[in-house]
This record gives sequence, structure tokens and C-alpha cells, in this order.
Amino acid sequence: MSERTLAIIKPDAVKKNAIGDIMGRYETSGLTPVAIRMMQFSKSTAEGFYAVHKARPFFDSLCTFMSSGPVVVVVLQGNNAIKKHRELMGATDPAKADAGTIRKAHGANIEFNAVHGSDSPETAQFEIAYFFPAMEIVG
Ligand code: CMP
Repeated sequence: MSERTLAIIKPDAVKKNAIGDIMGRYETSGLTPVAIRMMQFSKSTAEGFYAVHKARPFFDSLCTFMSSGPVVVVVLQGNNAIKKHRELMGATDPAKADAGTIRKAHGANIEFNAVHGSDSPETAQFEIAYFFPAMEIVG
């Protein structure tokens, strides 16, 4: 079933010049970018995006990190896009991520973990709409 998911190439990965590698992994895995934006989050943009984690002890640090430099926000489309993208990313903690995954290759630790991906259809719907009006999504 074709579906959409939201990916974010985080500030650490952008600083490491890993945009091309990560976008290449999406494309060669059958995930088609249908919207792309490079931007720098304000702290409140990050707080709104991660509102579900508001009560977590790492919330403030996460939002500071996510607003510390440019990111690339991407809508990916393809069969089982949410699950496929999560497999490509690997575990949240790069130390626990399988070999060959994006987080294994580019993440430093559980906070500086290179990429974000939606974890369910409901989350994907919220996250995509957070950044992209329907008219900015192609395909
Ligand atoms: P992400 O997929 O963007 O979703 C929430 C983020 O919170 C996660 O990746 C990590 O960057 C961060 N995160 C999750 N757990 C922890 C933790 N225990 N300590 C610090 N950051 C965390």
C-alpha cells in the first residue's frame, strides 16, 4: 500500500555533509521524495513538532539541538513507506542500530541521531501537515 512518511535530516547530519548520502538511500530503496524543504527550526517550531515528548526529560535538549542548525524536511512516498523508512534509519540509539542503517552510519548517540521518521500513519499525517500544505506535495 502506497503511503507517506515524514523524514527529517537533522542538524548533525547536515553539518556532516550527509544530505546526499541519506537522500540517495531513500531513492535507491524505493522511497520517492514528494516534498523537500531546507530550513532552520525556531525553538518553538521544534517544541510544537515534538509536543508528544513534552514530559520527557530530554525534551528541552532535543528542541535546542533540533533548532541549532539547518535541517532538511522530506515527505517520502512508497509502499509501506513508514516501516521501510524506519528500517532504513535503524534503532533510535545509533549504538543499537543495525549495520548498514542511516543512524549507524551517521548518528553519534541517542540524541544526535541524524534522522527522524514518523512512527505511525497518525503521526505521519500530523508531521507532514506540520510542514507542508497539500499543494506543496507532488505525486
Ligand atoms: P526522533 O526519531 O527524532 O524522535 C524523538 C527524538 O528524541 C529521538 O529521535 C531522539 O533524538 C530523542 N530521544 C529519544 N530518546 C532520548 C533519550 N533517552 N535521550 C535523549 N534524546 C532522546
